[in-house]
Amino acid sequence: MTDNEVQRGLEDVIALESQICFIDGKKGRLLYRGYDIRDLAQYSTFEEVAYLLWNGRLPTADQREALRARLGELRTLPEPVMRIVSEMPQGGNAMDVLRTAVSALGAFTPAETGAASTSVASAERLTAILPAIIGQLHRARQGLPPVAPMTGGSHAAWILHAIRGTPATDLEIRSMDAALILHADHDLNASTFAARVTASTLSDIYSAITSAIGALKGPLHGGANERAMELLEEIGTLDRVEEVVRSKLAHHERIMGFGHRVYKVEDPRATIMREWSRRIGEAKGNLHYYELLRKEEQVVFAEKKLYPNVDLYSGSIYALLDIPKYLFTPIFAASRVSGWTAHVLEEYQDLRLIRPTSRYVGPTDVPYVSIEKRS
Ligand code: SDX
Repeated sequence: MTDNEVQRGLEDVIALESQICFIDGKKGRLLYRGYDIRDLAQYSTFEEVAYLLWNGRLPTADQREALRARLGELRTLPEPVMRIVSEMPQGGNAMDVLRTAVSALGAFTPAETGAASTSVASAERLTAILPAIIGQLHRARQGLPPVAPMTGGSHAAWILHAIRGTPATDLEIRSMDAALILHADHDLNASTFAARVTASTLSDIYSAITSAIGALKGPLHGGANERAMELLEEIGTLDRVEEVVRSKLAHHERIMGFGHRVYKVEDPRATIMREWSRRIGEAKGNLHYYELLRKEEQVVFAEKKLYPNVDLYSGSIYALLDIPKYLFTPIFAASRVSGWTAHVLEEYQDLRLIRPTSRYVGPTDVPYVSIEKRS
């Protein structure tokens, strides 16, 4: 790449140095602070991973329990924010509610005014409170009273409780915990980059996370998990997979949950999510989504040599956890807020205003014409 070449979408442009996340797109490797995601997904919990992203090392057992206790104390929505969430339009996109509520949280948290006052405590509060927003918007849409914040319990259990209001089995909690670990961070994806651009102006962490939520909503990014499920609903039965997918590809439509800007082989997160989709499907006696997705993978690879990404199987797991489709992307945000806040803190620690340039290709030296003489 020469200095003056335009890299559309900033593809392969190295914008900054970071110690948080490493992706080897050719080998399909993903590391958080040097730890392989496969080890973290198998042996750790979301609380350990959030601690790792924020502090650069895995916690001791005591440190993990202390973090879990702190997160448990931070789950209550301020009353004005609760009202805002409850009064948002019922049929709207849930990511609009999440974005609005986080922005409002910032307005009711005057202490957060940029790098100097921001610490891991802000990251913990945002991480703890997002499930409360998601749960409240869901309860309000069902005309149900708010669910009281769960005292104790894991973050994964809290998310399931906030949305469903019912106890979760160990397997349900473990599958949600694995999904949260796998979605926690991913280097300079669009929403994380949006958060870092905002933080690089010395704006506050709530503004940075509001920027990130707006970016994650897009169907080319986090919004893909809901659309991947919509396609399964459109396909309906196994015998229709090939016909529907081929038709969409023939019309140059994108199959959501496939392809990636960085991975040139299978997204390692998809590998693990596929296995969880099978496990939770077997436990629930419902492999319908899993089987449709396996067939979808075969057709898309045969036609386009594209691999699945993290968004392909996540919805099949959430659906079997009785989570409605319109909350799939908010759940992505409830995990990724740990990575977003880690990047915001890193930006504050080694700050450089992020301001690229463009190659101007418009007209120059255009003579000014007064309005009376314009036609
Ligand atoms: C996430 O960046 C991250 O790390 C994001 C993420 C994270 O953890 O933060 O990993 C999470 O956002 C995963 C991606 C979720 N999005 C989708 O599943 C949407 C569908 N996928 C695509 O739109 C696409 O693959 C992107 C946006 C993810 C990446 O696109 P690129 O790198 O810009 O590649 P491209 O659009 O230039 O496509 C290259 C070719 C094109 O074919 P031609 O026009 O050259 O013939 O591949 C085709 C595309 O049409 N293609 C697809 C496709 N993805 C790419 N064709 C059909 N279906 C697809 N999904």
